[in-house]
Amino acid sequence: MGIGTAIAARLEALAAITDEPGRLTRLYLSPAHRRAADLVASWMEEAGMRARIDAVGNVVGRYEGTDPAAKTLLIGSHIDTVRNAGRFDGMLGVVAAIELVGRLAAQGRRRPFAIEVVAFGDEEGVRFASALGGSRALAGRFDPALLDERDENGVSRREALVAFGCDPARIALEARNPANVLGYVEMHIEQGPVLEREGLVVAVVTAINGASRGRVRVSGESGHAGTVPMALRHDALAASAEMVLEVERLGATTPDLVATVGRLEGEDAAPNTVPGAVSFTLDIRSPDDGVRHAAVTALSRSIAAIAERRGVAARVDIGYEAPAAPCDARLQVGLADALARLGLPLRRMPSGAGHDAMAFSGRLPFAMLFVRCRDGISHNPAEYAAPKDIETGARVLADFIDHLDT
Ligand code: GLV
Ligand code: MN
Ligand code: MN
Repeated sequence: MGIGTAIAARLEALAAITDEPGRLTRLYLSPAHRRAADLVASWMEEAGMRARIDAVGNVVGRYEGTDPAAKTLLIGSHIDTVRNAGRFDGMLGVVAAIELVGRLAAQGRRRPFAIEVVAFGDEEGVRFASALGGSRALAGRFDPALLDERDENGVSRREALVAFGCDPARIALEARNPANVLGYVEMHIEQGPVLEREGLVVAVVTAINGASRGRVRVSGESGHAGTVPMALRHDALAASAEMVLEVERLGATTPDLVATVGRLEGEDAAPNTVPGAVSFTLDIRSPDDGVRHAAVTALSRSIAAIAERRGVAARVDIGYEAPAAPCDARLQVGLADALARLGLPLRRMPSGAGHDAMAFSGRLPFAMLFVRCRDGISHNPAEYAAPKDIETGARVLADFIDHLDT
């Protein structure tokens, strides 16, 4: 079987492991995440690795090198998903890495350096307020305060980890010593339309855009929808609607900025009640941290002004920040050299989406390879990358690994 077809078959098997029958939803530390982690660990073992689930719920498989003194190369991506997800976002990089190591093992080949394949568990940050918990642990940047974050059912990260079989007290021990790591390299679908539009298959990523995520809580006064006169209302939902449009306006009018409200919830909402309390999420991104911070400040001011005019209170909490993260120059050259050896044109581009790699910024060198996906669609069940394109990506990564020197 060609490597593209083999990867596609494993992606299909993983896509069947879901917490919601009929669609793919696999949030961090859920029962489906556990089953997927076990499957991935078994694939790693079959591929000649020693596999374990670490203290933060990542699956880590190790394929030894010939030189015990050499640093380790980390490759992989994530196996958690958004709600109603596609089957390629994250899983492609994990499955491709396992296939590549499996092929090395089948040929009885080892590089001087050990290769560790990591299937991160908390890239999307859908279950808890912050994202990149798994990669931050490896980067030595896991803030223990995150253990107290609670999901929408009131379950804390700590409780969810223990139920998954992890020991939160050992998370700090997962930190990698930069002196022992060659770098982290991740293959991922582009999640955008550029490669397809340009008729190209793969690209070398230059940097990952920074992100701020947060929540806005708007409190007004609930009341009877039939009796409270319009002029006397403190409607938290109408105020939130105006704030949401302000978020959109700011994103649309600021160069190099995207701003999104992805979720909005009313408390005790009913058709015949004037909404008294609403909260909504914020997701603000830019390649330029200054632009992003200025946007957060401007938005906080606009939200306060809207709240004041409408007689409601609004609180903005930015609970998660990931600075823009440049990819390592040397590893980028390594990927570009692999493209050249395979006769592929070099396209370089930044990543608008976040990735586990950004948790390593300033700590461990990292690089990423994008593979074209159909219509640029992602975070959507229609997400698709052709086996032939996957094969090209896998060949680039294999060639990169073959030529990487310690
Ligand atoms: C992950 O997909 C993100 O960019 O939020
Ligand atoms: Mn992803
Ligand atoms: Mn994603």
